[in-house]
Amino acid sequence: MAERNASAIKVVSRKSLCFFFSTTTLLFLMSWLFVLRSTRSDSTPDTFSQLLSTFDDSYSQSQNSESSFNNRAILVNTQNVQSSFNNQTQTPDNIVKCITDTTTSRENNNTNVLLKIFMYDLPSEFHFGLLDWKGDDNGKQVWPDMKTKIPHYPGGLNLQHSIEYWLTLDILASTLPEFYPNNGRTVTRVQNSSEADVIFVPFFSSLSYNRYSRTGPHEKRSKNKVLQEKLVRYLMNQKEWKRSGGRDHLIMAHHPNSMLDARMKLSPATFILSDFGRYPPNIANVDKDVIAPYKHVVASYVDDQSTFDTRKTLLYFQGAIYRKDGGHARQELFYLLKDEKDVHFSFGSVQKGGIRKATDGMHSSKFCLNIAGDTPSSNRLFDAIASHCVPVIISDQIELPYEDVLDYSEFCVFVRTRDALKKKFLINFIRSIGKDEWTRMWNRLKEVENFFEFKFPSKENDAVQMIWQAVSRKVPFIKLKTNRSRRFFRSLYGNNNKDMGHKSIPAADDF
Ligand SMILES: *[C@@H]1O[C@H](CO)[C@@H](O)[C@H](O)[C@H]1NC(C)=O
Ligand SMILES: *[C@@H]1O[C@H](CO)[C@@H](O)[C@H](O)[C@H]1NC(C)=O
Ligand SMILES: *[C@@H]1O[C@H](CO)[C@@H](O)[C@H](O)[C@H]1NC(C)=O
Ligand SMILES: *[C@@H]1O[C@H](CO)[C@@H](O)[C@H](O)[C@H]1NC(C)=O
Repeated sequence: MAERNASAIKVVSRKSLCFFFSTTTLLFLMSWLFVLRSTRSDSTPDTFSQLLSTFDDSYSQSQNSESSFNNRAILVNTQNVQSSFNNQTQTPDNIVKCITDTTTSRENNNTNVLLKIFMYDLPSEFHFGLLDWKGDDNGKQVWPDMKTKIPHYPGGLNLQHSIEYWLTLDILASTLPEFYPNNGRTVTRVQNSSEADVIFVPFFSSLSYNRYSRTGPHEKRSKNKVLQEKLVRYLMNQKEWKRSGGRDHLIMAHHPNSMLDARMKLSPATFILSDFGRYPPNIANVDKDVIAPYKHVVASYVDDQSTFDTRKTLLYFQGAIYRKDGGHARQELFYLLKDEKDVHFSFGSVQKGGIRKATDGMHSSKFCLNIAGDTPSSNRLFDAIASHCVPVIISDQIELPYEDVLDYSEFCVFVRTRDALKKKFLINFIRSIGKDEWTRMWNRLKEVENFFEFKFPSKENDAVQMIWQAVSRKVPFIKLKTNRSRRFFRSLYGNNNKDMGHKSIPAADDF
């Protein structure tokens, strides 16, 4: 009896176990499907940024464009690269055409000004004062006298983010014929802001970050923070800012940590950045903002007579190996490459090892590695271009300057991080690039290097003018979003735009 009972219990428990097992399996499958779906529809990298995002439309829009950009790190030199790019990217024919267009327009000297810029006369503590320039008149003088003495920019690593200096000088010089005798300028400074295409904010934010982000002994906050607060207060009180809610303003924040305190409040403006690595997409994105190159610190290779065979090192990398975030690939690549005999992989930053050594190394290498570090971009790419050392880019989130008119696959090699970390993949891939292909890329590097050279006075299609051209391509979009933002103020409040402060940006603004 007891035995039968026991076996009945066994049967029952087996049945219920079976039932239990199949329900859990079913539940597991269902939850897995659910997770899969939800991750697919919500590709948000950062839920915090979604919370910040007020304008859903713009958010998903920029998300889309971001993700399509992320998908771009593809191996080059396969025929189908072009077609896998989205249609925003122009074909090489168009690039050539675009660049020659600006060249021909230069001949009739009235049409070459692409941008009319209004620049605020911000006190000098925001710009040249940060370079220890002191005007006469006990600090009342705002701008240096371009005809007598132009403030010098200190060398060293601060130089890599010095675009703020070059752009501001170019605006100051734009109305002085002695700098542009043949009118070879792209911008002109206007005194009436109503006539301007964009409003330029001359704050040297990278320099402010580099030099003044430490809190001094008897300070509550660093000078960098104080300047940003002052800047926000200043801008919110300007009629130009109120008129457009800041949408037609141009703000430089090239160092990834610059403008950390002010960037949220100033986010309607167009930023000039090195990448979007540390930005949530509602503050900065490819639609709205402009990517500018770093200024290279390695010397340009003047009169480069080198060849595939005379450049003895196959692959060159110099940089810090341990980085805070995103830099894990560097360590893994080091272990993958350290025993290859024609690979130079060394650590230590350029400032310690000496710029001279890096210059020699890059000038005698065929390929130069660019691996994502703290941020997706770094000035190493621009050092490689200046050295005519074909860049090998392993940085899936990198953004490249003027990529709407420049096809980087003609002179760079892109490798997805996950591929590069497969054993032997990278080295075999690079060894498979032969002399002809390399020489083609090397020749193209020599053609494009001028796009990355900062000059004063600016020269045709140098970095300064290429940045201005990139800004001018944003102008129709800037005007459109400015006009859209005005819709409700016209009808509800008459033409009185007085209240159009930052707070009152209408919710209907879907950019
Ligand atoms: C991209 O452009 C090509 C040629 O300009 C065209 O044939 C193709 O349909 C376009 N594709 C999309 C998705 O718009
Ligand atoms: C255009 O440039 C030519 C020479 O480069 C000069 O002679 C001419 O005066 C310029 N015209 C204007 C309107 O600036
Ligand atoms: C500025 O330009 C606008 C539009 O061209 C014009 O209406 C206005 O009178 C100008 N202001 C000054 C001070 O010249
Ligand atoms: C914006 O409005 C101005 C008039 O204030 C007009 O001239 C301009 O064409 C408009 N721009 C766009 C892109 O709609």
